[in-house]
Amino acid sequence: MIVSPSLLSADFGNLARDIEMINHSKAQMLHLDVMDGVFVPNISFGFPVMKYVQQLCKKPLDVHLMIVEPQKFVSQVRDCGAEIMNVHLEACNHLDRVVQQIHDAGMKAGVTINPATPVCLLRDIVAQLDLVLLMSVNPGFGGQQFIPNTLNKVRELKALLSEKNSHAVIEVDGGVNAETGKLLAEAGADILVAGNYVFKAQDPIAAIDTLVNL
Ligand code: DX5
Ligand code: ZN
Repeated sequence: MIVSPSLLSADFGNLARDIEMINHSKAQMLHLDVMDGVFVPNISFGFPVMKYVQQLCKKPLDVHLMIVEPQKFVSQVRDCGAEIMNVHLEACNHLDRVVQQIHDAGMKAGVTINPATPVCLLRDIVAQLDLVLLMSVNPGFGGQQFIPNTLNKVRELKALLSEKNSHAVIEVDGGVNAETGKLLAEAGADILVAGNYVFKAQDPIAAIDTLVNL
């Protein structure tokens, strides 16, 4: 399993130490949650912090933008070293154009959907995507409970990707732990995001190992 720990649950007073832990772990990516207080009812961090993370982190950066009008920030996200730029379907009036802009900027394009957004709304965009991020909690906060219907959505998305000949991978975000992670692996998820399960663990390296070995 590919694991992308979410920095949102890290100790912001010891970011360098926590990123060093990620560098030494088996995590294949690092997930960065950007929130604007408008699209979601919370504010996290922005470009200055991401630039700092870019300097220290040796793993590819998987950026999850929970902001309105993400098309305004494509080049700034790229300049922070993002390998993947994820935008919310619910935040884009012109999703196809945003996806093109992300590709033109040299990044992989991901589209994220909220728990109440049906998979079928991705039908006419999946062929252009590198990744689909399914939210398994309502975005805005770490440490929430996994929404079980996500398992059905993973299976439905997997069928849609093969029907549309899409090479996109399936990432799931929210409430991931060893138990929900196992169910997600069985359902067909390719990448698991984990915040609290990793950073609040007594042994974060071992928590990452558990998910990687699913
Ligand atoms: C929630 C964020 C998640 C969050 C996951 O809005 O998108 O990435 O950090 O945290 P856990 O794994 O604790 O649910
Ligand atoms: Zn996220």
